[in-house]
Amino acid sequence: MIQRPRRNRRSAAIRALVRENQLTVHDLIYPVFLQEGRGQIEIASMPGIYRYGLDALLTHLATAYERGIQAIALFVALPDQKKDDRASESKNPQGLYQQCIRRIKSELPEMLVITDVAMDPYSSDGHDGLLNADGEILNDATLPILTDMAVSQAQAGADIVAPSDMMDGRVAAIRLALDHSGHTNTGILAYTAKYASAFYGPFRDALDSAPRSGDKKTYQMDPANRIEAVREAELDLAEGADLIMVKPGLPYLDVIRELADISTVPVAAYNVSGEYAMLKAAALNGWLDYRSVVLESLTAFKRAGASLVLSYHSFEVAGWLSARD
Ligand code: PBG
Repeated sequence: MIQRPRRNRRSAAIRALVRENQLTVHDLIYPVFLQEGRGQIEIASMPGIYRYGLDALLTHLATAYERGIQAIALFVALPDQKKDDRASESKNPQGLYQQCIRRIKSELPEMLVITDVAMDPYSSDGHDGLLNADGEILNDATLPILTDMAVSQAQAGADIVAPSDMMDGRVAAIRLALDHSGHTNTGILAYTAKYASAFYGPFRDALDSAPRSGDKKTYQMDPANRIEAVREAELDLAEGADLIMVKPGLPYLDVIRELADISTVPVAAYNVSGEYAMLKAAALNGWLDYRSVVLESLTAFKRAGASLVLSYHSFEVAGWLSARD
């Protein structure tokens, strides 16, 4: 036999030498949830993940930073009284979200803060866009709400704003608004190929942000489509995105590869709440070895072409990786 592929797998040393992809803590972005008040509350469908009050979050992030986590994606949960149909609270400079961004940047200045630009946590109807009386999404009327939100977050100190709403034209609108308000160094991580997925269920529990009526299928993508993701990527690149993202992650590795092959900016993957819940639940039942399946899953994102991975596993993974030789 001339070809014996097993020769390159004979020992740990040769396997390490020929390994094509290596997950490091620098690839990870840790999504975290903020809420009003003190302390922390575990999210029922995401064991090990909490909604934190401001002070508790700061303490948790200090630990995360020590473990090597250098980037977070911040999400906020608000009580119903703070929600309305125009997401007005989202541009309040004294809002909880803006206060939190300022505190993180003053106490952990090296921590990269990525903020979420979408109406749903602030919206009384739970949608990412403005609705008319017939329940239709008003794309263009939503854009100024998103740009005000993005500018307010940049003003508070966000390093990167991440529009997760899937309105057409929002990356260009946000870029223009950031530049006009002097925030030329604030980056844009575009949720480029965000699918209408049932894997977001636990996240919507966490933020109480499920749509009160209808679904998100007129703006989030059809899970059956691949070519359409390329179209979205071309638009976001042309509109000035600094990073593009595919979401969810594991069921969409083919889309990550597709975009990684054509993108001139780094591609991120969002290993979403439902993906976290699956592995965690199986592990808690003793059905899967948690550490092994998590590392295998996150390495799969790198193999598919993702440069960055947003994952709720990040905090635990950072502990394992820094402990690893
Ligand atoms: C909404 C948003 C969602 C997630 C991130 N931003 C949910 C949705 O679109 O309904 C989901 C993240 C996850 O499931 O982990 N703007």
